[in-house]
Amino acid sequence: MTDLTTLEAELMTAIAAADTAQAIEDVRVKALGKQGAITTLLKSLGGMSPEERQSEGPKIHALREGVTGAITERKTGLERAALDAKLAAETLDMTLPAPAFPQGSVHPVSQVMDELAEIFADMGFSVATGPEIEDDWHNFTALNIPETHPARAMHDTFYFPDKRDGKDMLLRTHTSPVQIRTMTSEKPPIRIIAPGRVYRSDSDATHTPMFHQIEGLVIDKGIHLGHLKWTLETFLKAFFERDDIVLRLRPSYFPFTEPSVEVDVGYSIEKGRRVIGGSEGWMEVLGSGMVHRRVIEACGLDPDEWQGFAFGTGVDRLAMLKYGMDDLRAFFDGDLRWLRHYGFSALDVPTLSGGVGA
Ligand code: DAH
Repeated sequence: MTDLTTLEAELMTAIAAADTAQAIEDVRVKALGKQGAITTLLKSLGGMSPEERQSEGPKIHALREGVTGAITERKTGLERAALDAKLAAETLDMTLPAPAFPQGSVHPVSQVMDELAEIFADMGFSVATGPEIEDDWHNFTALNIPETHPARAMHDTFYFPDKRDGKDMLLRTHTSPVQIRTMTSEKPPIRIIAPGRVYRSDSDATHTPMFHQIEGLVIDKGIHLGHLKWTLETFLKAFFERDDIVLRLRPSYFPFTEPSVEVDVGYSIEKGRRVIGGSEGWMEVLGSGMVHRRVIEACGLDPDEWQGFAFGTGVDRLAMLKYGMDDLRAFFDGDLRWLRHYGFSALDVPTLSGGVGA
């Protein structure tokens, strides 16, 4: 019979000598694997007489426990030593700058829309939306632009080939249909702005087939042109962040307003560039007017009870004027160099923290 003491001494020496994970695993297999020395001893218990078994059994089990414990301990020791060696060999320089993550930017159009929403929110306006696929009634008829009206031709409308529920469908040519959608779904008093995409079949340096407008609508009792002028003045001062904003209201024509006014804003020349503010020259910025009674009627309201004003303008153009960009097409080219230059950081957006003010 194998001398247990000799076997134990041999295994303990082998365990102490094992200096890699593989070496310790080899010892484990040799002792405790299927054909291992201790496993074989345990199997031999079955063939022993009961007396022998009683005397040998506890010794063999004790040997197995002792060897198992020694292997585990050696393994842990080796792992710890490997980790210590690794930590000693590698140094971490905590002063190195962290790698910069790729960062997107906020498009000037989104930035300006946010600014507009913020300014008008200060004046009690909420943001309304409407569908970009519109029907002909909301886009034209209800806005006092009947089928025969020349304004329909002027809008270069994209029509859909098929009718929906008997209606001619189109890509909205302006945000004005949101006026109709709001007046037919909400009870006055109404104070909304509606920023969004609009479409016209037009393309050159100053026109793109898709562009952005913002609409404003106020419906209440006793509203007059004075309210319109104050609102626009307050808005333009906050938007351009200047107090010397001068407005000029010129009589104009829009089918959905009566009277209609075109609004010019004064500019001055600074370092050879036109800058909004002052009154060295005039730039047209908005269309507006008092909402036509026919429009109010088309929405099911009594024009003798409810009046209001509306205005509409191009968001892209406002962005160009404020942030000094001169080619509209670049807005929609998706050129990363342009976006990096003109885009705004999402985390560091200039806000109109002063707001509209008192
Ligand atoms: N919808 C007009 C356009 O696209 C702009 C406009 C003019 C909107 C006068 C208005 C308004 O609300 O009162 O050209």
